[in-house]
Amino acid sequence: MGNVPLDSALISPPVTLADVPLSRPVQLGVLASGSGSNYGAIAQAIASQQLNAEIPVLIYNNPKAKVLERAAQFGTKTQLINHRDFTSREACDQAILDCLRSHGVEWVIMAGWMRIVTEVLLRGYESRILNIHPSLLPSFKGIRAVEQALDAGVKVTGCSVHFASLEVDSGDIIMQAAVPILPGDTPETLHARIQVQEHRIFPAAIALAVTQYS
Ligand code: GAR
Repeated sequence: MGNVPLDSALISPPVTLADVPLSRPVQLGVLASGSGSNYGAIAQAIASQQLNAEIPVLIYNNPKAKVLERAAQFGTKTQLINHRDFTSREACDQAILDCLRSHGVEWVIMAGWMRIVTEVLLRGYESRILNIHPSLLPSFKGIRAVEQALDAGVKVTGCSVHFASLEVDSGDIIMQAAVPILPGDTPETLHARIQVQEHRIFPAAIALAVTQYS
């Protein structure tokens, strides 16, 4: 048997972007709170014409989010909707919904969106909101998923793209990639390898969801 590199990911289902071509540019609204590397992977897949989509707006909730720099690189329009300016999650989600609709968004992509979604957004985009999570769901839901996997002593973890639902990290799973945990891994080293796989599966999972569920 040949040597299989320990950090090679197993993607399930084994679908690539080329397997699920989109017939027209799908309008994606991206929600991001942090560095935006997943947004960057999606924007790059669009720029290199591997993913037939457009991002009419990227909404961010943290005025200092690094995703802004990436958005500028790709020329994506950004809109700050700061949850601190609202008295309830629902009111904030209503503002997000209004913004997405006014930009003609068809599918909502939560790319490192660190907010719990409410029924307001879920009803507005029923079965059209995707989230990425750094574990093999249903294991290690919620915050600090990478640390949870290390603490549990599992030997394999990974990432999941799934439909958003009222219960956190619990909607139907679209695509997952497995990432082995290596001796000496820290949360940072492990998360970095998980993110490599996130960037591979997120654009493909979007294409798969759009073709299968539109
Ligand atoms: C990603 O690893 C994503 O899986 C995680 O946040 C990171 C965002 O990275 N999301 C969650 O933990 C959601 N529960 P990015 O800003 O570089 O895309």
